[in-house]
Amino acid sequence: MSLERGNIEEETWQAQALLWNNIFSFINSMSLNCAVQLRIPEILHTNHPTPTTLADLAAAIPIPDHKADHLRRLMRLLVNAGIFAADEAGAYSLTPASTLLVPANGRMGMAAHVTMNLHPGIVELWHHYADWYKADGPVMPFDVAHGVSGWDYLRGQPGLLALFNDSMASDTELLMGAVITKCAGVFHGLRSLVDVGGGVGMAGKAIAKSFPGVKVTVLDLPHVVASLPVDGDDSGVEFVGGDMFKSIPSAHAVFLKWVLHDWTDEECVEILKKSKEAIPTREEGGKVIILEMVVDPSCPDEKVRETQFAYDMVMMASSMGKEREEREWKKIFQDAGFSDYKITPALGLRSVIELYP
Ligand SMILES: C[S@@+](CC[C@H](N)C(=O)[O-])C[C@H]1O[C@@H](n2cnc3c(N)ncnc32)[C@H](O)[C@@H]1O
Repeated sequence: MSLERGNIEEETWQAQALLWNNIFSFINSMSLNCAVQLRIPEILHTNHPTPTTLADLAAAIPIPDHKADHLRRLMRLLVNAGIFAADEAGAYSLTPASTLLVPANGRMGMAAHVTMNLHPGIVELWHHYADWYKADGPVMPFDVAHGVSGWDYLRGQPGLLALFNDSMASDTELLMGAVITKCAGVFHGLRSLVDVGGGVGMAGKAIAKSFPGVKVTVLDLPHVVASLPVDGDDSGVEFVGGDMFKSIPSAHAVFLKWVLHDWTDEECVEILKKSKEAIPTREEGGKVIILEMVVDPSCPDEKVRETQFAYDMVMMASSMGKEREEREWKKIFQDAGFSDYKITPALGLRSVIELYP
């Protein structure tokens, strides 16, 4: 590569474009956040299947007339990113991506992920990553940015905590629909299952509804269980307050959705050892069912690789967890005393892992 003045090769321009693209990647995120704040997915959804003209979109938000062309520029970027679609007349409609941003069932859907991850307090921590690498003390970038762990920061900000809970519930709703239809075999033959770190029990309730023969228990921290509404729950799911590092209620299967990625390898081994104690032998049908990412660094889909690596950075910033490659999962499973496992990559970026004692 020559950097001599007047002798700049094509490779240099490509390098400059690549750097600009990386420098400005955050503009895509923030423009997406802007569209969510302007309720653009909801407006396009209301007009669906008729595409929405720029003038109608501007009027529905509403914004001043003289800003309509500024809105067109935002929409151009987001159409290019695949978030919205535009027809030949320039009218806009939803794509599969923005359909996930439309609120449903009293929840924000993936719009909660957008708003939470781009909250100023969360974005702030990315400014402290380099300090965290150099410092010998603080455990996570979150500690450097805010002086407290990610969980404590969330607990101190009720609005942000509500967004986190909404984003988890929306995710569980989407994911469990797919698990139950595409991976139903995973639950066949089970008579009981304990959803460990099951939160408000959305996954547990979905399993109980689809597989009435399975008795479902949800284990979460005592304060989480104590905060659940006691009335109006006819799901048949039993909630137990406890600590998964100490004891897990006995069941045919232990279910762990998006729990292990919050913890270190050593802590995962402890959780899985407790899980093994809770289930019968493989011959008697005992297993652990895990829903997590299995990172594939050689995945041919660049977007999948990019997103899984980004999620791993999120876990490093906010907890001591990580998104793991298969070889890392395998080591944890072996250290926890399990004999075999099966990975079914059927859920987009995440997989179902069945783990056998
Ligand atoms: C990331 S959330 C996942 C919730 C749920 N599985 C889902 O996917 O929606 C992790 C859950 O683990 C719970 N948790 C954390 N520490 C725990 C412990 N020691 N014992 C039991 N549950 C715990 C948290 O309260 C939280 O509900």
